Amino acid sequence: MLAGKDLLSVQDLSAQEIKAVFDRTRAFKRRPFGTQLKNKTLVMLFAKPSTRTRVSFEVGINQLGGDDIYLEFHDAQVSRGETIADTARVLSRYCDGIVARLFAHADLVEMAATADVPVINGLTDLFHPCQALTDLFTIEEKLGRLRGLKLAFVGDGNNNITHSLMHACSKLGVHLAVASPKGYGPRPEVVADFRKNAATTGAQLWLVTDPVQAATGADVVYTDTWVSMGEEAQAAARERALRPYQVNRQLLAHAPRALVMHDLPAHRGQEIASEVMDGPRSIIFDQAENRLHVEKALLALIFGKG
Ligand code: CP
Ligand code: NVA
Repeated sequence: MLAGKDLLSVQDLSAQEIKAVFDRTRAFKRRPFGTQLKNKTLVMLFAKPSTRTRVSFEVGINQLGGDDIYLEFHDAQVSRGETIADTARVLSRYCDGIVARLFAHADLVEMAATADVPVINGLTDLFHPCQALTDLFTIEEKLGRLRGLKLAFVGDGNNNITHSLMHACSKLGVHLAVASPKGYGPRPEVVADFRKNAATTGAQLWLVTDPVQAATGADVVYTDTWVSMGEEAQAAARERALRPYQVNRQLLAHAPRALVMHDLPAHRGQEIASEVMDGPRSIIFDQAENRLHVEKALLALIFGKG
């Protein structure tokens, strides 16, 4: 189903394809090694820092018998004017796939359109599909189901994590409440995607400004940094606007059964209190581990023979 395809956004995947990714993930958690990438080389083209995405992909590629080349964007000619399209054409002559972490999502779309090999989104300003797929896999692993659960996202509603969670939740029937300050809500086109997907799955979406309203009755409370990569110039204004949105003990009192998630890196004492991150309800480090397993499933399905 996914063989030879790009993965730019969760919106590109059907619910059936996501289920296939989750089934394959469970299989890799039982038997971690494979040969699906034997004699294959992927290029990891990264324009932003990364700990999880870089290491989990590199380890995953290795565990499937493949090889990778980490190419820092600023060390490549694309940083001094070679076009994205020409870069994609040339990389396609050498390697079997590209994992790219870029600023503008439009650049990734152009890369995928001009590359002759599959392109996987390792994060752009708009979307982080590998993260959201991992998040939903982790919730299902912990709670035994997805459909009908309520996830509360508290914080910056207009970022890559929120947008990809909106796609994943709406495709899989998970209700989503996003609590963010005025001016920090999700993009209208992603709200429209949610509503379109929800027509099939029945997922509900609440866009609110009150974190307590979002957290009440939630099965999962999720947050992300207030200042995403590339937004450093707005840091002071963002920290001011988002301060009332910290996930802490007081907020979690309104969500007595909720698990706590964060895609990481976390800024302890800002979007999440340290005691919550380290507390009994946090599944944050299992979530981080699952990046490896889910990405191997994606790699096997995209590059393997099934
Ligand atoms: N969550 C995530 O993608 O982390 P990195 O920025 O460390 O890759
Ligand atoms: N929203 C964050 C996610 C980091 C994995 C960022 O883009 O920096």
